[in-house]
Amino acid sequence: MAKRRILRIDSDEDKKILKAHCRPVKLPDRNIRQLVADMFETMRAANGVGLAAPQVGLPIQLCIVEVPAEVEEQEDGTEVEIAPAAPYVLINPRIVKTSGDEVMRDEGCLSLPGWYGQVPRNSWVTVEFHEPSGKLRRLRRADGLLGWAIQHEVDHLQGVLFTERIRDLSTLRDITKEPDETVMA
Ligand code: NI
Repeated sequence: MAKRRILRIDSDEDKKILKAHCRPVKLPDRNIRQLVADMFETMRAANGVGLAAPQVGLPIQLCIVEVPAEVEEQEDGTEVEIAPAAPYVLINPRIVKTSGDEVMRDEGCLSLPGWYGQVPRNSWVTVEFHEPSGKLRRLRRADGLLGWAIQHEVDHLQGVLFTERIRDLSTLRDITKEPDETVMA
């Protein structure tokens, strides 16, 4: 595996790729396995919960999402894992149903590290996608952090950056120290 460079919104060269409408992946593709392994390594090293192929320079419809393990604190102060980390590889994803409502959340992006803003998103989405094996899957009513990250990544594949979704730009700010509630993808 190898870590790849994450493209940045504030670089003109990088932005050309980040703004591209990504092309569909034709499966099977023998290069996908290596790409996916590299993307997971890159995302985890950057403490992200999602990463899209254009963010590592490839304008193709592939993204990964990984919601961290859920941990609960016991009465004695020790922590116990109640749900494992859930990694997803979404190829040619399509959001087929949305909640239709709107939840505001502080959102960040690995392509603009340190910056956060309030972005409106559906509280849940149903997404259809292919696995690297070619198998078609449907993930129903993905909500919480998972649902949010899927919407952020699918946007990336259409060349849409989170900064363009912010309605009130005064909420966009640079924070050097990451508070608990903020995540990047
Ligand atoms: Ni992003």
